[in-house]
Amino acid sequence: MKITVIGAGYVGLVTAVGFADLGNEIMCVDKMPSKLSKLSKGISPIYEPGLTELLQKQIGKGKIHFTDKIEDGITFSDIIFLCVGTPQSDDGKADLSQVEEASIDIAQNMNGYKLIIEKSTVPVNTHQWVKTVIKRNLKKDIKFDVASNPEFLKEGSALDDFVNPDRIVVGVESEKAKDIFKELYKPFVKKGISLIITTPAAAELIKHASNSFLAMKISYINMVSELCEKVGADVDMVAEGMGYDKRIGKDFLCAGIGYGGSCFPKDVKAFIKIAEEHGIDFSLIEEVDKINIKRRTNFIKRIKNVLWIIKDKNIAVWGLSFKPNTDDIREAPSIDIVGELEKLKANLKLYDPKARENFKSIFPEKQNIKYFDDKYKALKNADALLILTDWDEFKGADLDKVKENMRLPIIIDGRNTYQPKDMKKKGFEYYSIGRENFDPKGVWK
Ligand code: UGA
Repeated sequence: MKITVIGAGYVGLVTAVGFADLGNEIMCVDKMPSKLSKLSKGISPIYEPGLTELLQKQIGKGKIHFTDKIEDGITFSDIIFLCVGTPQSDDGKADLSQVEEASIDIAQNMNGYKLIIEKSTVPVNTHQWVKTVIKRNLKKDIKFDVASNPEFLKEGSALDDFVNPDRIVVGVESEKAKDIFKELYKPFVKKGISLIITTPAAAELIKHASNSFLAMKISYINMVSELCEKVGADVDMVAEGMGYDKRIGKDFLCAGIGYGGSCFPKDVKAFIKIAEEHGIDFSLIEEVDKINIKRRTNFIKRIKNVLWIIKDKNIAVWGLSFKPNTDDIREAPSIDIVGELEKLKANLKLYDPKARENFKSIFPEKQNIKYFDDKYKALKNADALLILTDWDEFKGADLDKVKENMRLPIIIDGRNTYQPKDMKKKGFEYYSIGRENFDPKGVWK
């Protein structure tokens, strides 16, 4: 099938490359010349495992094309995925100006029936606005449908998630739109993946409700982790015991310094705003957000408790991205934590396998902020190591080498990377989340 994707950001690009790999022909439209020139050469502007390789393969096969001409994109196919940004505005609501702009562009260039599909995360009933804007700007009487087909991709495993989703949700209002989706998703249904057909409003809500629920699981276990520390229980054991109950499930129960990224923080706030506009009490979700913010301030407090004076201390930081396997630092806890330590005049030695360049755009290299391309080099003479992202390479680190390089063997771990008993044996002063904090010098309060 021929498919147009508007917006070559993270969602658009994975969608475009994923559908191309299934044999479809894709036209991807984006306004940013710098992005397009990279993409046309087969270079992905974001780091996502496997994306560059698949992009190059599909360009080579002639299955994917890039353009900045919106009219070329719209006349290319009957199926148009809207993958433009829906960032958070100052009041917490989603800023839908790019959705409106794309809808006007579609209306002005329509050459026949179109199925316009919202893929980006949008507030419930955005499809009504898209319909209204298109109707207002249409030059001729042309039939079209607006549908919602939210994405559930996780950064770092987006291509796998595209190929093997837990479910596919589509919200439609016409038989024609339903039939197009059935054809488009035939390869998935053949594999036994459920195609859930619902209304556009329900599909829009499924996305916001799912993300907020997952964020709630994280804040829940983080709340429990605080109690674990007070009563001497291990939060990982508690989470494991809970997770065996199928109704609860094991995923998204890792305690730590909280969630970041371009989705959960923004979507939780937007969901609260939607409820507020409809006069519904969403204080449960408000608490989810509050607990998450508190994770960062608590972690900073912990660093101060352990290190006492921060000024001039050499603090190594492993992990800057908001989660492993991505170079994305949007809303990453590292931004608040590094920012506060910088204010307190620590000497920061930063390491991340992929996010270094993005982090430099917020914290440029200077006298007290240095970046390293080797995690052990970042530890030279360190008074403490902070672990802020759970990259696999940290789990497999040579702990003897870590200890040798540091001035003091103090690790403050925001992601429960190691087992407290192993760290005790190795002679580390090791602090983690919701578990026994091994403190041989008795400084922990
Ligand atoms: C999230 C959802 O998981 C996807 O289903 C959704 O499609 C996507 O948002 C989106 O709306 O586009 P993503 O933000 O890429 O995906 O990453 P997650 O794996 O969900 O992690 C989000 C944050 O939660 C990370 O900072 C991660 O470190 C944190 N997290 C996750 C925890 O602190 N504990 C956990 O147990 C799991």
